[in-house]
Amino acid sequence: MTDFEKKHTPVIECPDEVKEGVPFQVKIIVGSIPHVMEEGHFIQWLEVKFGENLYERVEFTPIFSVPEIIVTLTKGGKHEKRTLRAIERCNLHGVWEATKEITVTGGGN
Ligand SMILES: [Fe+2]
Repeated sequence: MTDFEKKHTPVIECPDEVKEGVPFQVKIIVGSIPHVMEEGHFIQWLEVKFGENLYERVEFTPIFSVPEIIVTLTKGGKHEKRTLRAIERCNLHGVWEATKEITVTGGGN
């Protein structure tokens, strides 16, 4: 990745494997090199999705926000593998996405 890509691509920290119905935390930061949060250039929002389903959306403001979030989620056991998507928008450089596969165990209801 270039430094430009590192500044915009979200970084996802969460377990690789979670238990059905048991809350787990997901931390997302933008990015592995911190992006500026200036009036004219900043991260506007960050979304957490599984597939096309929106789980969380956070809006940021320049100067005072740091573009990182920690959210607590639970997953059902309907799908064994799910793709977590972290999507952010920079006001100058558009939409960027990172994904991570999560395995859901303990199904069988
Ligand atoms: Fe940017």
